[in-house]
Amino acid sequence: MPVNILAIESSCDETAAAVIQNGKILSNVIASQQEHNQYGGVVPELASRVHVQKIIPVVHEALLKADITTNKLSAIAFTAGPGLIGSLMVGSSFAKAMAMALNVPVIGVHHMQAHIHAHFISNSIPAFPFLCLTVSGGHTQIVLVKGYLEMKIVGETIDDAAGEAFDKTAKLLKLPYPGGPLIDRYAKLGNANAFDFPEPKIKDFDFSFSGLKTSILYFLKEKEKENKNFIQERLNDICASVQSRIVSILLNKLKRAAEEFEIKEIALAGGVSSNSLLRNEAQKIADKKGWNLYLPMYEFCTDNAAMIASVAYHKYLENKFDTLSIAPQPRIVW
Ligand code: KG4
Ligand code: ZN
Repeated sequence: MPVNILAIESSCDETAAAVIQNGKILSNVIASQQEHNQYGGVVPELASRVHVQKIIPVVHEALLKADITTNKLSAIAFTAGPGLIGSLMVGSSFAKAMAMALNVPVIGVHHMQAHIHAHFISNSIPAFPFLCLTVSGGHTQIVLVKGYLEMKIVGETIDDAAGEAFDKTAKLLKLPYPGGPLIDRYAKLGNANAFDFPEPKIKDFDFSFSGLKTSILYFLKEKEKENKNFIQERLNDICASVQSRIVSILLNKLKRAAEEFEIKEIALAGGVSSNSLLRNEAQKIADKKGWNLYLPMYEFCTDNAAMIASVAYHKYLENKFDTLSIAPQPRIVW
């Protein structure tokens, strides 16, 4: 009998379910919550409530699309963390209840490991060991990936994440949440050299984005004192300049890590890896340095359950199951 795993992702504002069969994704359903747009960020309590409403229809659709009935499931997987605790609890409680009813094992999955697994369900797969720059709304990491489940963080943000830098800038520019994709879009029409924002000096392969956020805040305050329409008039140039700085901060560290570890297999992952400038600039460096660069398919960049299913499948193969007493953790080490 094939190994069929149902995977559930509910760590933030996406309610998602996927079915994987012997390592192949059969279905991948995502319900994105639009309820947060007006607030400039995810409202945790609201997110949990919407997960409760959406989880049953999303799981139902994932099983229907995969053409798998519940009696054919070998295990149920879910995101165990990191994430918003209320959101995680909806997915984990649902998964554990379903596993109990079906008498199959549960598998808790680390969300950031799962982002890297976007590459194992995409068309071309990096060879081990590779370096992965994982950039999302909550995390910014450089990870040394030695095997499907063997990963080591070699650098990470000491404050805000790259996605947060995009989203918080968007909020200052009075754009709705999530701001990353909008900044990407407006930046295409602007001049990236119009304004200069500072690059922080942080040790080794770690990152910092909080100083950038503060400098943008003061920059806008000053400019708006002179011209109250400054943001509307220069929106494209501001977006292009901020985006260019975020991308250079990320890629300068990635370049240094690739040199230090003498690795030319390089991957990007996480929501921010769908940013067009990041992808293009990484490709330029790859061409110059002889990297094999792996960019995940767009549908697997932002949060989804297919990536959770991939980690779960490899854990299943290695008999790495959890007990029903597993509790989700907002912060979790791997
Ligand atoms: O990985 P993800 O879906 O969720 C987390 O695990 O956090 O990442 C969401 C983040 C948000 O901050 C969003 O603004 C950002 O990814 N994002 C982008 C783009 N698309 C999504 N940031 C910049 N450019 C984009 N095109
Ligand atoms: Zn994520």
